[in-house]
This record gives sequence, C-alpha cells and structure tokens, in this order.
Amino acid sequence: MPLNMSLGRWRSRTTFVFALAASAVGLGNLWRFAYLVGDNGGAPFLIAYVVCLFILAVPVLIAETALGSHGRGSPVMAFGLAARRSLLGNAWSFWGGLACLTGVLILGYYIVVAGWGLHYAWSMHSGDFAAASARQVSIHYDDLLGSLPDMLAWQTGFLGLALLIVAGGVRRGLGLFVWLLVPSLVVLMWLLIDFALENGDVSAAGRFLFSVQWLDFTSESVLLALGHAFYTLSVGVGIGVAFGAYAPDRVPLGRSILAVAIFDTAIAMAAGIAIFPLVLVNHVEPTLGPGLLFLSVPYAFGNLPQGEIYGALFFLLTVLAALGSAVALLEPGIGSLVQYTRLRRVPATLLVGVLVWLLGAAVAASLSGRPGFGGLFPWLDRVTANFLLPLGALAVAVFVGWRMRETLLRREMYRESEGFFQVWLLLLRFVAPLAILVVWFWSIMPDRP
Ligand code: PFF
Ligand code: NA
Repeated sequence: MPLNMSLGRWRSRTTFVFALAASAVGLGNLWRFAYLVGDNGGAPFLIAYVVCLFILAVPVLIAETALGSHGRGSPVMAFGLAARRSLLGNAWSFWGGLACLTGVLILGYYIVVAGWGLHYAWSMHSGDFAAASARQVSIHYDDLLGSLPDMLAWQTGFLGLALLIVAGGVRRGLGLFVWLLVPSLVVLMWLLIDFALENGDVSAAGRFLFSVQWLDFTSESVLLALGHAFYTLSVGVGIGVAFGAYAPDRVPLGRSILAVAIFDTAIAMAAGIAIFPLVLVNHVEPTLGPGLLFLSVPYAFGNLPQGEIYGALFFLLTVLAALGSAVALLEPGIGSLVQYTRLRRVPATLLVGVLVWLLGAAVAASLSGRPGFGGLFPWLDRVTANFLLPLGALAVAVFVGWRMRETLLRREMYRESEGFFQVWLLLLRFVAPLAILVVWFWSIMPDRP
C-alpha cells in the first residue's frame, strides 16, 4: 500500500515547485533579509548569504525532498522507514518529531507578526496613516502592541485562514492555494517596485543596500548569513520531507529546488527595491528589525500620493507571503498526526491549530507587557533560527548523506546528471554538516558580542 495514500499528492510538478516557493517566501524575505543586509555591511553580507544558500541550504533541502519522496510519508514516517535497518533504528524518528515541533515553535511568533500585517493592511486601506507624523505612526504601533485583545483577534484571523487552507488537504487546499499565491506575489511585487521607482529615492536605496561597509561585516555576520540561508528556504523543519512525499514521479528534484532558491532570493531583493527607496526619500533613518516593516514603511507610504492603496497592497503582499509559509509550517505536524494516529485531517488540523494559537497568545501576552512571559518572542526566534533549524538540517544532512544507501539516493535523483549528483553528495556529506556545526556552536555560546 502506498504510504501517502492518506495524505494525497500534488497534481503536477509545477504544483510541487510552487508549494516549495510558497513555503520559502515569507516574512524572512520582507523583513529579516532587508535589515540583515543593512546591518551587516551590505554587499559582503549579500555575497556570504548567497554562497551559504547555494552550498548549504539548497543541498539540505534537496536531501529533505529526496527523503520524503523515498519514504512517501510524513517526516516522522520518512525517518522511521528509511532508518529501519540503520544503526540507530527508530531513534531517527525522533528527528522527525522534533522537526514538527520546531514548526509549531516558529509559528508561535510568526502568526503574531503576520497578524500585525493583517492589521496594517486594514489601517493603510482605511487611511489611518495619511500624512501621519513619525510620532503618530509610532503611537499606532505601540497601541497595537499594547492591546492584547486586538493582537489576539488579528492573529486568530490569520491562523484561521491558514488552517482553512491546510484542512482542505494536499490537492484541494494547499495545491490550489499555491497556484493563487505565487502569481499574486509576483504581480504585487511588480506593482510595488514600479511605485517605489517612481516615487522613491533609488540611488539612496542603492547606496544603503549595496554599499560596502567592511567594518559592519563581522565574524558574526557570516553566521547570521548562514542562519538566514536556512531560515529563508524553510530548511530543517521537515517541510521538504512532507512536500517531497506528495511529489509526483519524475520530478527533477535538484533543479526544482535551485529554481526555488533563486526565486526566493529574487523576492528578497525585490522587497529591498520596493521598500528602501520609499523609506529613504523621506530622509529618515530606516529603523531596522520589526520596526522597519511596521514603522518606516507605513510612514513612507502614508506620506505619498496614493500611499493608502499601495501601502495596503504592500501589507497584503506581506500577509500572503506569510500565509504560504504558515501553511507549510503546519503541514508536517498535521501530516504526521494523520499517519500516526486515528485522527482525520480536519481534527488533526484543529489540534495543531489550538497548540499554535495558545503559543501565539503567550507571545502576544509577553509583548503586551503582561508579567510572566518576558521576551518570549525574541527567545523563540533565537532558539528556532540559531539552534533548532541548524539541528534539523544537520540531522537530515547526516542521515541522508551517510545512512541512506547511495543506490536509493540515485533513484530519487535520477533526473539529474552524474556531475550534479556528485557535487550534491559532496556538499551534503562534508560541507553542510561542518558548516552547520560552526553555526550551532557559535549560537550556543553565551556571550555574543
Ligand atoms: N522561510 C520563511 C520566510 O522566509 O519567511 C520562514 C520559515 C518558514 C522559516 C518555515 C522556517 C520554516 F521552517
Ligand atoms: Na524566505
């Protein structure tokens, strides 16, 4: 019996690629990437990130999909099945479970920020930021973060949308959604870049984004570039395993994932081109981190003609992108539940949804200054990005690179050339694990400068 019978399959190879693209493009491209580049010396960081993306994150994601396509099941199942005759036996299934849990932990803060995006799309559209002063914009932000009921309402709306899509299943839910999402992302981005080029200070943005500031490029920057490469491609939480399990036959796994990585980077760069010319034309220092998206951007759009419309479109883009990632983050856990328990897809979706919502509520409560949850948001972000994602990626690299038989891997990769296969295996076996260990040890060191 095919193991993925209960889970379904993508209708086409394009759907598989779109699903991975939807998973990759998210808040990481629109918010994390831009401020990391600005904060870490510009061009040198960009180069380090691109190198890490292609020699580390891409090979590990290919390995994840190969594992899923071989196991034809959820992450827990794929590890368990492929590990049956290996030394550690079912202990490997543990990694699958950990990957699902990591997804839930990321979602815990992801839905909160995406909920802000939903709120801002609404307020931009309502003209709340029309000719607003910097002070008014910052009061708006503080008001939202100070109001737990508001944040809960918006995060519930966002999570509800994501759960509806996942509950629809692989074919009718996820599969249809990504066909709507990926073209929308491209069209919205195109509109926004057009607007930015017309109304913004392009050369100031170029100077800001692509200037070379060697002093800002520290040894920590290299590690941030490594971590972001995994983060942005959604590597290390079992999404590749789950999505690979639903892949139709004859998918060229390697080239598909290369295309996804190129698309993800293009969207990240496009986001920089859409944001910074507008922010810099107002002659304000761009605020970095979450503030860039929720302070500088509304201010910039609010003070431009037609800003309400384009500002609303910008936050719509943010929400859609985040939705694709959230749906992907939910799937490994739900798929595992469907395979390992008697639960059907809808109850499994509800169960994971309740878990995520509760965690999100805790994050929102900690942000709105309730006692007892101090700093949960940054803690979750740090632990997942610096520790759990690299750990998951390391497990995949070691497991697929060293424990799976080469004949099995060749079978999954038969659409790729021998040269491609050899380079991939080399990167997977040696380069990726070593580099991940470096990131990992660095991130658990207590005193980072
Ligand atoms: N790749 C997503 C982004 O760039 O926003 C974030 C993300 C999704 C990270 C899924 C990790 C993950 F497993
Ligand atoms: Na991304």
